[in-house]
Amino acid sequence: MSSVAVESRQDLYVPQAARIARISPQTENDTLFALELTNDRPLGHEPGQFVMVSVMGTGEAPISVSSGPSEGPDFDLCVRAVGNVTKAMHGLEAGAQVGIRGPMGNGFPMAHLKGRDLLVVAGGIGLVPLRSVIEAVLSERDDYGKLMLLYGMRSPEEMLFQDMLTEWDERADVDLRMTADREHPDWDGHVGVITTLFPELEISPGNTTALVVGPPVMYQFVIMECVNKGIADHEIILSLERRMKCGVGKCGHCQINNKYVCVDGPVFNYAELKFMWEAI
Ligand SMILES: Cc1cc2nc3c(=O)[nH]c(=O)nc-3n(C[C@H](O)[C@H](O)[C@H](O)COP(=O)(O)OP(=O)(O)OC[C@H]3O[C@@H](n4cnc5c(N)ncnc54)[C@H](O)[C@@H]3O)c2cc1C
Ligand code: FES
Repeated sequence: MSSVAVESRQDLYVPQAARIARISPQTENDTLFALELTNDRPLGHEPGQFVMVSVMGTGEAPISVSSGPSEGPDFDLCVRAVGNVTKAMHGLEAGAQVGIRGPMGNGFPMAHLKGRDLLVVAGGIGLVPLRSVIEAVLSERDDYGKLMLLYGMRSPEEMLFQDMLTEWDERADVDLRMTADREHPDWDGHVGVITTLFPELEISPGNTTALVVGPPVMYQFVIMECVNKGIADHEIILSLERRMKCGVGKCGHCQINNKYVCVDGPVFNYAELKFMWEAI
C-alpha cells in the first residue's frame, strides 16, 4: 500500500462499527467471532490482511481477517485471549459492537498464486490468516494447482476450525496433513513437530509457493525444509507479527530496519526477509 493510498483512506483512521453476529468458541482461549459492518458495506479485504479491532474503553489490537473475501458486510476474526483487548473481546456477547479500522497491510499475493501449487504451512494460531487464503482458493479452485495444507498444533485440544478441517479433509482436491507435537489420548494422528510432515511431501519445486504462518520459532525450521525441497526463496512467503499501535506506518512500533510491518507487510517473502532475519 503506498503512502498516498494510506493517506486517502478514511477507514484506516476512523473506526467503522461492526456487530458481533455469532460467537463460536474454538478452544479454551480461542474464539471465532462472525462480524458484520453496521454500514452494510463489504470490508473489502484480501487474504492475509488484518484489521485494528477496538473494544470501547479498552483499546485496539491488530487481528487477521480469517474469512475469505466477501461481497457482503460479513467477515470473521479468530481471537486468542492474551491481554487487555483480546480478553475484553472474549467478554462480549452476540449483538455487541466493536470498532474496526482497515483492512490493513499487504495480504498474500493472490494474483501471483494463480496456477501454482500451494504448500500452506500453519502452526497453531497461524491457521487464522491462512484460512482466508484457503477459502479464497477453494472458491476459485480451478484457478490454482495442488493445495497441500500442513497444520501443526501443540495438542489436539488446540485445534481450530474443526468442522472446516473435516470438510477440507474430505475433499479430493485438498491434501490435508495434521500433526500434534506430543502424544495425546484423544489423538491417533501423526505425532511430531510440523517439519516431520515434510519428508513424505511430493513437490514440484519450480511451480510451488509455500505460505507459512506460525510462531516465530517455527519459521527457520520450516524455511529450511522448503529450501531443501527446492522452493525458491521468493516463493516462500511468511506473515510476521509485531507490536502495533497506529497500523498506518506513522508510529514506528512495528518497524524492522527500514520496513514497517503494518504497511510493507505483514506478508513478506524469504528473499526480502533474509536481510532482517535476526529480527524475526
Ligand atoms: C498482523 C497481526 C495479525 C494478528 N492476528 C491475530 C489474530 O488473528 N488473532 C489473535 O488472537 N491475535 C492476533 N495477533 C496478535 C495480537 O494482536 C496480540 O496478541 C495483541 O497484543 C493482543 O492485544 P491485547 O490488548 O489483548 O494484548 P496486550 O495487552 O497487548 O498483551 C498481549 C501480550 O503481550 C504482553 N505485553 C503487553 N505489553 C507488552 C510490551 N510492551 N512488551 C512486551 N510484551 C507485552 C502481555 O503480557 C501479553 O502476554 C496479530 C498481530 C499482528 C501484528
Ligand atoms: S504500527 Fe505504527 S508504524 Fe506500524
